[in-house]
Amino acid sequence: MFGNGTSGDIVEIERLKEFDDHALVSFVSDAQSGLSAVIALHRANPTVPSFGATRFWHYASSLEGVKDALRLARLMSYKAALAGLECGGAKGVIIADRNPHKITGADREHLLEAYAARVNLLGGRFITGTDVGVTQEDLDTMHRVSRHVIGFNDNSTDITVEGVLGSVRAALTEVFGSPELAGRSFAIQGLGKVGGGLLARIYEPVGTTGKIFVADVDAALVETVKGKYPRIIVVAPSEIDRQEVDVFAPCALSGAVNRRNAGKLAVKIVAGGANNQLESESIGDTLHERKILYAPDYVANAGGLIAVFDEYKNPSYDRARVEKAVLHIPETLRKIFAESRAENIAPSRVANRMAERIFNGYTHGS
Ligand code: NAI
Repeated sequence: MFGNGTSGDIVEIERLKEFDDHALVSFVSDAQSGLSAVIALHRANPTVPSFGATRFWHYASSLEGVKDALRLARLMSYKAALAGLECGGAKGVIIADRNPHKITGADREHLLEAYAARVNLLGGRFITGTDVGVTQEDLDTMHRVSRHVIGFNDNSTDITVEGVLGSVRAALTEVFGSPELAGRSFAIQGLGKVGGGLLARIYEPVGTTGKIFVADVDAALVETVKGKYPRIIVVAPSEIDRQEVDVFAPCALSGAVNRRNAGKLAVKIVAGGANNQLESESIGDTLHERKILYAPDYVANAGGLIAVFDEYKNPSYDRARVEKAVLHIPETLRKIFAESRAENIAPSRVANRMAERIFNGYTHGS
């Protein structure tokens, strides 16, 4: 799939800095449908499957897709631990050979069916759902082949957004002493399921005295969103991290806060839905030193995981039960912010430490 396919490549994976003694890394391909994917399980609780949604994306190289899967699977272990769920983390990445939006109709169906069939080969140790590039319709397609594909009880993204909003409010309370959105300013990077959902939730409460800057690389989407929310201020994707706002909300891909922009961000808070928002751990320290409050991504965006885990555990759906579980998110953040303040260390480090204590108790399963 990448490199020259010799056993030497396997050794290289173990040497990648993204490799963290993952429990399992599985490469799957299907010549007929053109499927090329990687499934990574980070930690595996012996009695509970590992959870992680599937991403469908086009990468600069297959190796980049593999690294993304390793990083995201690891992050899912942190997410599960701090959401109070006893599962390990995992991730599926389908590596598209072109823009995945352009893979449509029967081609898309065959590819997703082939992927779901490979998920079945893992015998239920991997439970997956929707991430970037995977629509609810795609999920239906995969579910026809695999019962290990879940996320049907409700729109789990709504629950993700609910948690992100709770996180934003917790961060506002920490910084400004109030969770109120009225008059606050935001910069939302990415207007997809999560970013668009967040915008929908904050638009009215922010009101005419606040400001919402947005950016997305999908120009058609931006136009549609602008039609619906006329007060938003659209900026180029390269400009979204340059806005002077209260809250920068990364809701697109990884590395929104990085070496290039961490020293320049003119914001009070970074809180959004994207996974792996910090390019590296030290970026969290930079934010802390600059007195920018960071709501650790995997805590803020755990709502979707909480929802699908609830679906896995319970025979019937109860939205109130899920919403109650999501309240865990702002509560956890309050603890993280308090510890960060007391010890003067970055919230990202506090969160990592808390999570590691939990999931390092798991073995790799049996
Ligand atoms: P999506 O595919 O619906 O939306 C992502 C959006 O980001 C797309 O509109 C895309 O055009 C845009 N985008 C990509 N690169 C960009 C850039 N450089 N600048 C501006 N916009 C850019 O995906 P979704 O579901 O909204 O996920 C967004 C993030 O939230 C991802 O990091 C995902 O892993 C994370 N997440 C999503 C959850 C969910 O429930 N959907 C749950 C937890 C995390």
